[in-house]
Amino acid sequence: MRSIAVLNQKGGVGKTTTTVNLGAALAERGAKCILVDLDPQAHLTAHFGIDPKDGTPGTYELLAGTAELKDCIRTIDKRISVIGTRIDLAAAEVELANTIARELILRDTLSAGNLKYDWMLMDCPPSLGVLTLNALCTAREVLIPLQAHFLGLQGVGRLFETVQLVAKRLNPELTVLGLVLSMHEKGTRLAAEVVDDVDRFLTESRNQDVPWRHARIFSTRIRRNVKLAESPSYGKTIFQYAPKSHGAEDYLALAAELLPPVKPEPIAPAAVAAKPESVVTPEPPAKPVTKPKVVHSAPPAVPAPTPSVAPAIAKPTAPTTPPRPAVAKPRPPAPVTPVAQPVPAAPAAVVPPAAIEKPRPKPAPTRKPAPASAPASPSVPEPVASS
Ligand SMILES: Nc1ncnc2c1ncn2[C@@H]1O[C@H](COP(=O)(O)OP(=O)(O)OP(=O)(O)O)[C@@H](O)[C@H]1O
Ligand SMILES: [Mg+2]
Repeated sequence: MRSIAVLNQKGGVGKTTTTVNLGAALAERGAKCILVDLDPQAHLTAHFGIDPKDGTPGTYELLAGTAELKDCIRTIDKRISVIGTRIDLAAAEVELANTIARELILRDTLSAGNLKYDWMLMDCPPSLGVLTLNALCTAREVLIPLQAHFLGLQGVGRLFETVQLVAKRLNPELTVLGLVLSMHEKGTRLAAEVVDDVDRFLTESRNQDVPWRHARIFSTRIRRNVKLAESPSYGKTIFQYAPKSHGAEDYLALAAELLPPVKPEPIAPAAVAAKPESVVTPEPPAKPVTKPKVVHSAPPAVPAPTPSVAPAIAKPTAPTTPPRPAVAKPRPPAPVTPVAQPVPAAPAAVVPPAAIEKPRPKPAPTRKPAPASAPASPSVPEPVASS
């Protein structure tokens, strides 16, 4: 099972929309998915038309240890299941404050359940508290929805630092899968600049021992599409609400980028026998191969840098700095304590948060007010406020 935390501590960037509709798109393509709502706002839960107060236990009960996993799983259809939540999840931050290894509760509970799904997607809250840490300890991969606009990169440096810290101390298998541009507006210069900055940052990280060295910017851009904004109020995924919309098209394309490429069908034995020279000249596949809709791998798809643009994200200030930062310094106690430590500043060559988050000298088109984020967790160095 591939397990992905959909994460960006910035609010309103498309995490829930991506979790729901990417999961639904993977299901459309035949995969079996379980979606986990780790946000006390319960938006993913509501997106499926589930009443968060219907009494069915969910992530809060799982973390509190008051319900069995099997009782928390809701079957939406034959390929999609959901572990929902309710507002009480916000209390988990405080209630778990003194619990040993609180970051590992979800991982341990889910692994004990021996889930039979192809994909697990976790919708994280817009904060880096204990709920997000539970997602990062459970996941193998992190998918970051990013809005390519002014302040879109705000906090991304801190997010990468947190992933790096969790990878070092708690979950060595954790990697950053990539970034997906959400609410994309084609042709805007600012979007191109943001993409260019991120692309350069990732390219410069390729040879470093960091969890994002293989990360990419997905070729698929999730276009701004009103159907995506409308579908939650009908309790439907985009495929149920508007299957022919750009939103449905884009999430299917993103799913195609995530799924392994379709393999050519093996040569039919009869065809091989009928053609002796095929020993040296292989027959073509029996049928044409169905190609995924979208070009795989990200790299360029990014417009050329604009000279007047702010400096790239990851212009290393000290190119000779060894890739392993002070973050790696081992701390003796159990895995929980390190998370409680302040996040050490990553070296400039690895994560230049200041550069990543450098605001652009343009007025911020504020898109949405800051959501009520979960209370700060004592386990997190310095909780990052949602925006
Ligand atoms: N591609 C899109 N086109 C139009 N509207 C979108 C798109 N993606 C998301 N939205 C809308 O933008 C708003 C924020 O999206 P969403 O809830 O997915 O963000 P989020 O990152 O989960 O937010 P939060 O941080 O509050 O959890 C929602 O109203 C959603 O319907
Ligand atoms: Mg959300």
